[in-house]
Amino acid sequence: MSEKIKFTIDGKECFAEQGQNVLDASRDNGVYIPFLCHVKGIKQAGSCRVCNVKIAGRTMTACTTPVAAGMAVENDTPELRDLRLAIIEALFVEGNHFCPSCEKSGNCELQALAYKFQMMVPRFPYQFPQKQVDAENAKILIDRNRCILCKRCIRSFKDEKGRSLFAFKSRGHKLQICIDEECAANITDEMAQEIMNICPVGALIKKEKGFNEPIGTRKYDNKPIGSDITSVI
Ligand code: FES
Repeated sequence: MSEKIKFTIDGKECFAEQGQNVLDASRDNGVYIPFLCHVKGIKQAGSCRVCNVKIAGRTMTACTTPVAAGMAVENDTPELRDLRLAIIEALFVEGNHFCPSCEKSGNCELQALAYKFQMMVPRFPYQFPQKQVDAENAKILIDRNRCILCKRCIRSFKDEKGRSLFAFKSRGHKLQICIDEECAANITDEMAQEIMNICPVGALIKKEKGFNEPIGTRKYDNKPIGSDITSVI
């Protein structure tokens, strides 16, 4: 059995497996580091930056940084809390997030983080971008108004030939998520539900049935995100 690596998060002694990243290791040690794009067991993208921590005075993403022996990680500090809040605010103003009409409300990780960080009025101006909804696929509705471009769907869902069911199209501010209709032709109801669950927001919605679970009884309606770190994705 390989030796565990000893490190600290905000002074708490923690242990990690060889090669484990700071984010996965934090969870194994009962410490919550906020995140949006990471999915345990799937190659990291480092795209959302919500998991920013400070190591040796430098800000780094916990999901892409391997733990090293003796590493001292700063996580829950006023500076990092404000940095994360700024990122969350930026994600809100860059999209059109109308939570009251969203099927993911209460199960949305972005909304839950906004509550956790007590977001009020964002420090950035709202952009109200023009975004398209794509309802072509038989099982999945893509609402790009809510997409935060985290790549969770691209990285998580492949067909039997290893091709991703989802892909990015265009560049810069025109970058958008698309579904590959050929690869995604045979999505089952179970898979559509899994896709909806992996999406941290309400950009990928399973068609045909909505508002199954009443608002007020959903995952984060009564329990802040991160309060049960074993149940996060
Ligand atoms: Fe680490 Fe998104 S979770 S950058």
